[in-house]
Amino acid sequence: MRTHYCGLVDETLLGRSITLCGWVDTRRDHGGVIFVDLRDHEGVAQIVVDPDNAKAFATASNVGYEYCLRVTGTVRRRVSANDKVRTGQFEVLADSIDVLNAARDLPFALHEHTNEDLKLKYRYLDLRRPEMQRMMRLRIRLVAALRRHLDARGFQDIETPILTKATPEGARDYLVPSRVHAEHFYALPQSPQLFKQLLMIAGFDRYYQIARCFRDEDLRADRQPEFTQLDIEFAFVDERVVQDTVEAMIRAVFKEVVDVDLGDAFPRMTYEEAMRRYGSDKPDLRIAMELVDIGGHVRNVEFKVFADAANSDGGRVAALRVPGGAELSRKQIDDLGAYVAKYGAKGLAWMRVEDRAKGRDGVSSPIAKFLDDATLAAILDATRAEAGDMIFFGAGAYKTVCDFMGALRLKVARDRGLVANTWAPLWVVDFPMFEYDADARRYVALHHPFTAPKVDDIADLNANAAIAVSRGYDMVLNGNEIGGGSIRIHRSDMQSAVFELLGIGADEAQAKFGFLLDALKHGAPPHGGIAFGIDRIAALMAGTESIRDVIAFPKTTTAQDLMTAAPSTVGDAQLAELHVRTVPVEKS
Ligand code: AMO
Ligand code: AMP
Repeated sequence: MRTHYCGLVDETLLGRSITLCGWVDTRRDHGGVIFVDLRDHEGVAQIVVDPDNAKAFATASNVGYEYCLRVTGTVRRRVSANDKVRTGQFEVLADSIDVLNAARDLPFALHEHTNEDLKLKYRYLDLRRPEMQRMMRLRIRLVAALRRHLDARGFQDIETPILTKATPEGARDYLVPSRVHAEHFYALPQSPQLFKQLLMIAGFDRYYQIARCFRDEDLRADRQPEFTQLDIEFAFVDERVVQDTVEAMIRAVFKEVVDVDLGDAFPRMTYEEAMRRYGSDKPDLRIAMELVDIGGHVRNVEFKVFADAANSDGGRVAALRVPGGAELSRKQIDDLGAYVAKYGAKGLAWMRVEDRAKGRDGVSSPIAKFLDDATLAAILDATRAEAGDMIFFGAGAYKTVCDFMGALRLKVARDRGLVANTWAPLWVVDFPMFEYDADARRYVALHHPFTAPKVDDIADLNANAAIAVSRGYDMVLNGNEIGGGSIRIHRSDMQSAVFELLGIGADEAQAKFGFLLDALKHGAPPHGGIAFGIDRIAALMAGTESIRDVIAFPKTTTAQDLMTAAPSTVGDAQLAELHVRTVPVEKS
């Protein structure tokens, strides 16, 4: 059908007759000559249609944007070259033009900014845009590079079931009703976690899979209900082998795919340090600002919000110095207050530093009146404040303060251009085993329930559950959790003990995970691994904020596919066959 690609027309084709296929990117009428930019996946070629060629000219006169054409013509040098386009030195003088298909009533012009929903509804049109093509192709190269890397190192690519049993990763399950087994459901995997552990027990030693995962959870720019992991597992390893191996892999693919050098050994930081210094377990180290604890200075101040948090066991009073932030207006401060409220802040105290030499008179702050001179000076010292800075304060429960002050740090840094233009990878290690869920009044696993504790002794774990540290680790890049994994529990008695601590009794454990508990009794080797978020890595490489841009057919934040209109209702007959009855909900 064609002899060459539009985007690859070059010097070597000068004077030759070629045939191109593609879409009409633009069409211009220039005093009787028609110019068509014809686009395919390689780029654009300029087609010139001369009025002397009456047939081609008539056809070209009637084509519109996104018409699908086949053009045969002769390559020649352009009179005025366009350096911005790869083929900008050349053009194709058309001999014949066939309209392969018209494009009528386009919902939007590809070059124009338009509403996101419309673009998702006509995703195939949006994907025609060169920028979208670039991002998707980057993802393709990433996946190919990862596969090549792992294949060369003896990792076995093994598929695991999609119709399966619940695999808890902290989200809700997507369920599929069984027709054959009335009232029974499959769950779609939140990850291949248990299967990859079983593959280690089965003796495959090193496994990987580019695996689709399904999680019914609140969606954001970096979360989709179905997403892709690079899932990896090793037998007979400790955390250092896992970390070193996959760190080398990530470094290699960044170099290969985007020519980025992620540097030598990634720094390691404990969870505790990350929360204390950055208010986050996925700190963005491109930002220099850090949280400073001032609890020790404000135990006896009049301001109860500070004193209470400083004196309570699980409390925190943290300060964040924003260099040059004194220029923030009241409105901007109020807006930041509203922003952190979304993360649980009850307020956001602040202090503008105008002149340190003047002590109290050199600052302006609604809370200065509650602080004596010595405390004020101690806070300025602790934060290393300078004239022109702003200090924000957060007080309350430890986790809440971390959450909102960590979010504030990111927001202020982005708003004020304080994010360095570099790549900042790190490992976060030594996560707590459990987090106490006050509402449910029980522990929940910080990673997943199959993560091994650092202690080998069950009695020790039971006695110190609240402070137990796990053998889990996350890889973080520029403030994004791109991968998470752990050394697993490989002993059945330890796994039962952890289930017990998580409030999963023996009967429930047997019903849900009996196959795993059994398998762990049949000579399970020590094992561990990790899973990377392919979508997140691709988005970072592509320089886009949303993983939607690197997923061909993504869903909206309400988990809909606007193009196919999924999810959708199904007929009564199909429901009956599946033994399912629906309960109508009142439409609000
Ligand atoms: P985890 O739940 O941390 O670990 O997931 C691993 C990585 O997958 C990515 N990710 C997501 N990406 C897009 N949308 C989502 N909804 C989403 N959820 C997670 C993140 C994350 O780091 N079985 C364990 C891995 C293991 O222990 O080996 C697991 O799934 O980048
Ligand atoms: P108030 O006396 O409640 O008006 O608070 C005085 C200042 O402290 C205001 O700027 C509040 O935003 C701030 N504030 C109140 N609660 C907190 C809190 N938990 N953490 C940080 N600042 C707070």
